Parts: sequence; structure tokens; C-alpha cells
Amino acid sequence: MTWYETIFDERYPELFGPLEHDPEDEVARIVGLLSLPAGASIVDLGCGRGRHAIPLSRRGYRVTGVDISEKMLRMARERAARENVSVEWVREDMREFLRPETFDACLSLFTSFGYFADEENEKVLRNVARNLKKGGTLLLDLRNAQKGLAGEEDHEMTFAVPAGRLRLRVRFDRVAGRAYAEHELTRPDGIRILSRFDVRIYSEDQLSEMIGRAGMRIHAVHGSLDGGPFTPGAERMVVIARKG
Ligand SMILES: C[S@@+](CC[C@H](N)C(=O)[O-])C[C@H]1O[C@@H](n2cnc3c(N)ncnc32)[C@H](O)[C@@H]1O
Repeated sequence: MTWYETIFDERYPELFGPLEHDPEDEVARIVGLLSLPAGASIVDLGCGRGRHAIPLSRRGYRVTGVDISEKMLRMARERAARENVSVEWVREDMREFLRPETFDACLSLFTSFGYFADEENEKVLRNVARNLKKGGTLLLDLRNAQKGLAGEEDHEMTFAVPAGRLRLRVRFDRVAGRAYAEHELTRPDGIRILSRFDVRIYSEDQLSEMIGRAGMRIHAVHGSLDGGPFTPGAERMVVIARKG
């Protein structure tokens, strides 16, 4: 099994939760950025535990959440049932998920794109293009490659989180264009949990070519979900593309 099939489980909220922003707020911003029509159909690719899919459904959109991890989907289903929210949850690999001409928008949030080799990452984009209706929109919320690959050195930091102490280490491989991250949580009882992942981080130009080859065009690039400008120092690279 590869890393993305093993680390996304019930430990996720402890390991990644402290890095997340308020999803209700993010959903409000996403809706604003995409100007989605009422009742639009949206697929959240790599939906995890439904942080965005659930509030989107509550706003009246028809939402499909796709994830490879049954454990993440179980958390999503349980929360949706508790909150009486309807989302279609699909356990599938994003490299295989195909529903041609079905969605008005496809979301990929909190760095859920770039886990594979280039060829397979492109396959994900080709599937997205096929799954979108004509004029449909893709939103990719990614780590800003320029910040990692060009500027900043590898980094490490430790901070207190509700479940203990979290140590993050990120190493950039500038030749492969990948970031390797390690999250280690030490709980107060001394138990440590560790996750490692590696993700391809593309420049704006590389993404533009890949998105073009898949049959879409970049419409805007922002430095955050707020819609702020994309600068070399921006934390995120939020790419909005349209299917022609
Ligand atoms: C960093 S998490 C983000 C989850 C969610 N978007 C969020 O913001 O909370 C990435 C998600 O992608 C899922 N994932 C990883 N590889 C996948 C694949 N090949 N196909 C579909 N989902 C995948 C993981 O299980 C995980 O839930």
C-alpha cells in the first residue's frame, strides 16, 4: 500500500486538524469565488471527513464526496447523519472516478492533488475535465510551489495542539518538485503517532500546461481562498480553471 492509502484514517483530525482553517468560512469564500448557481452539482475530490461537502450541501448544493479512504468516509457519513445532511459519498480512487458531463464544479481542497507521478496526476485532471459539464469550474487549493521549491529552506517546527505536541517537518526535493512532510504527534501519555506524505508541487506554468492538455483553461490564480493576489510568498496557490 502507498502512503495515501494508509495515513488518512481516524488519527487524521489530531495530526492535520491543527493546520486546518474554519471550513464554514472556507465554504463561504469558495461559493463567492466560483459564483455557483443555486442547486449546482459539486464534486469534492478527496473529500476526507466531509469538512466542506457537508456545509456545501447545507447551502442547497447537490454534493458528491469522493475519497479512497473508507475510514475518512465513515467519519463523513456519521457526521452527515448526525446533522441530517444529504451528501452522496463515493469510495473511489480519484484516478478512476468517471461521471462524464455531470458536475458544475469540482473542488480539490487542502492539498488533495499531486499525490502521484506526473502521468497519474494528469489523469486526475483529465477525469475532472470529462466529469465537468461544459463551462464547469475546477478549484484546486494547493501549496504554493514557489514558496517551497524556489525560496524557503526545508523547515521544522513544533507546537502545542489540543492532543499534545505536534512536530512538522517539510523537506523539498527541488529536482523532483516534491515536498516530503512528516507529522509527529506526541500525546501527553507519551504515545507518538506519525504520518509521512509526499506531494508533487507544480508551478503555475506547469499546471497551466497540464490543465490545458486536459481540456480546461486557467481562469484565475489566487494566493488563498479569500481571493487575494497570488504572490511568491503566498501560503497557497488557488487555481480556478474552466472547461471550455
Ligand atoms: C489532505 S486530505 C484533505 C481532505 C479534505 N479535502 C479536507 O480538506 O479536509 C486528502 C484526502 O484525499 C484522500 N485521497 C488520497 N488519495 C486518494 C485517491 N487516490 N483517490 C481519492 N481520494 C484520495 C485522502 O483519503 C484524504 O481524505
